[in-house]
Amino acid sequence: MGKDVIIACDFASGEETLAFLEHFTGRRPYVKIGMELFYAAGPDIVRRLKDRGHPVFLDLKLHDIPNTVKKAMAVLSRLDADMVNLHAAGTRAMMTAALEGLTRPDATRPLLVAVTQLTSTSEAQMREEILIDRPLEDVVAAYARNARVAGLDGVVCSPLEAGRIHEVCGADFLTVTPGVRFADAAKDDQTRITTPAGAKALGSDYIVVGRPITQAADPVAAYERCLAEFTD
Ligand code: C5P
Repeated sequence: MGKDVIIACDFASGEETLAFLEHFTGRRPYVKIGMELFYAAGPDIVRRLKDRGHPVFLDLKLHDIPNTVKKAMAVLSRLDADMVNLHAAGTRAMMTAALEGLTRPDATRPLLVAVTQLTSTSEAQMREEILIDRPLEDVVAAYARNARVAGLDGVVCSPLEAGRIHEVCGADFLTVTPGVRFADAAKDDQTRITTPAGAKALGSDYIVVGRPITQAADPVAAYERCLAEFTD
């Protein structure tokens, strides 16, 4: 399980996404569909990518009352995504309900991972606006533990947090990590970053890579480089 590169397909339309993936002749990389693409292209984009053989991480970060999340997850599981996510802040009750909703009649289900604190949230914002007066890394670890207790498969986190999360939640608890850049490339708006090789050394199970692949002059070569650094 795990050790794969997931391409963040942050495109504004299904057509743009499919045109981008045409570059990958014969390869079927794991892809992430986020809110922008899902809201623009609708659920059909998940079916189209699955029909073409791509594993799909549906990154919609659900957060609502348990019953609503359970029902929404039941709809998403019928799209046959391979991984979906939610906010751990929704509580263990919400996460348990999500798992129930996701589980198909044949007992299979997509992997379910939780966002702990968004990496865009600073410790100061957490303290002053969300009124959580604890060190950020402790909050991340506690939320990850809640996700583990609720039966989830892992969390989305910074690669720099992957080691602590594995210590707290076990080696088999998945860490799905964005914030990956090549050593010789632009950081864009990411801050706490590492390279694909660094993420491997830190214990990430999946790396989520967007612009270093989607904006590359040769996206297939950039993808191959990520795979080689991360999995070899
Ligand atoms: O282009 P880039 O490699 O920065 O893309 C990373 C992807 O991971 C984006 O889709 C971004 O929304 C997502 N992400 C992130 N940090 C998080 C959660 C998700 O960068 N904490």
